[in-house]
Amino acid sequence: MPSTDAGIGIATERAAWLDWYRRNRARSKRLFDLLSDDAYYSRPIALRHPIVFYEGHLPAFSLNTLLKKALGRPGIDARLEALFARGIDPHESVGGDEPGHARSSWPPRDAVHAFAAEADRRVIEALGHADLDRPGHPLLDRAEAVFAILEHEAMHQETLLYMWHRLPFEQKRGPAGYRPRTNGAPPQQEWIEIPEGRATLGVNRDAIPFGWDNEHAASVIETPPFGIERHDVTNARFLEFVEAGGYREPRWWTSEDFQWIQSEQLTHPLFWERDGDRWSWRAMFGRVPLPLGWPVYVSQAEASAFARWTGARLPTEAEFQRAAYGSPSGERPYPWGSTPPSPATGVFDFSSWDPEPAGTHPAGASAWGVEDLVGNGWEWTATPFAPFPGFRPMASYPEYSADFFDGQHVVMKGASPVTARELLRPTFRNWFRARYPYVYATFRCVRDAAARRP
Ligand SMILES: [Fe+2]
Repeated sequence: MPSTDAGIGIATERAAWLDWYRRNRARSKRLFDLLSDDAYYSRPIALRHPIVFYEGHLPAFSLNTLLKKALGRPGIDARLEALFARGIDPHESVGGDEPGHARSSWPPRDAVHAFAAEADRRVIEALGHADLDRPGHPLLDRAEAVFAILEHEAMHQETLLYMWHRLPFEQKRGPAGYRPRTNGAPPQQEWIEIPEGRATLGVNRDAIPFGWDNEHAASVIETPPFGIERHDVTNARFLEFVEAGGYREPRWWTSEDFQWIQSEQLTHPLFWERDGDRWSWRAMFGRVPLPLGWPVYVSQAEASAFARWTGARLPTEAEFQRAAYGSPSGERPYPWGSTPPSPATGVFDFSSWDPEPAGTHPAGASAWGVEDLVGNGWEWTATPFAPFPGFRPMASYPEYSADFFDGQHVVMKGASPVTARELLRPTFRNWFRARYPYVYATFRCVRDAAARRP
């Protein structure tokens, strides 16, 4: 009986959406609860909004997108809905417009909470009862707006944590018993040769329940053979570059990047801090002696300089895709195959507030034996963020990608410790400016295959 089957299908979907929405909201609340009250109006990253904005923005985006734009329902408070409408996010730009608003223009926290509670009530009602899957509707075809609000909140949780990371430790309360896993010697680095083969970039719209506009459509790239490092570049290895004077040597940098490190007086990665004659790492809730086995977190500009210093380069997006998802018998949904993500296969889904030693999740290795491709830090590529053939901006969030096709942003792939498991699909793309230093992003080097090397 097809109609009954369809009814059961929709009921199951609704239950899954409601569950995801509630999980998202509960996690967002836990993240805001990590902070002391005096952090609320502060702006830990100068080019982003103060923290208050984001507590209002998450429910406002859901209300504006799903209830007002998609379902045509009335709002709650026009002033707050406009105030909280848009950050310079989720992939904000250094050098973009300075977010405005003096301290006095932000509402008291009680007002933000009251607005959020009413927005949640209405969104939950709609997820439970409204007609959300309407074939041919610009925002509700295949329930696009529902997935847009759910993934939007999950992505913001990661960008919130980049901000929390920069706050003074006194303004954060670490969860009881949390200790970063700093033990572990750096793994032995090794080149792995990947044979030539296909890498699929993007996916056709109807092939998965939801993808962002920049993930469509599918195209197949024939990838020449290349060598890739088994492990991410560790702090230990990057320290050699720092100690060799890498930050003082213009030939490892593009001229713009060298100008940048000089004008900012950068001499080491942002997450590193000097402690007398020792290096320490600024972890989420305190400083730890520099964990030599962790993947180094750096900007793409610093990653590129390191790669040049070693005579290698960063992978293209297609090479990442081939190394992560390719196999001798075709492409797979995860580097480790098709079993769902689990703590054994990588560091993601908020399993840690900080990285873990490289090479400690061998069960997550790709078919070629490359480790940590998904998890433990996004991986910078050399590929500028650009649309795939067949791109069209999505009606529920038209500026999501299109505002960033400017040649100034580069693609990151994989996942960090605080990337939600729902985002771990092969086609998900992240992007930032090459000189953006705040993200949980690492890298590994590639080189042309032995036969092609001069
Ligand atoms: Fe947003």
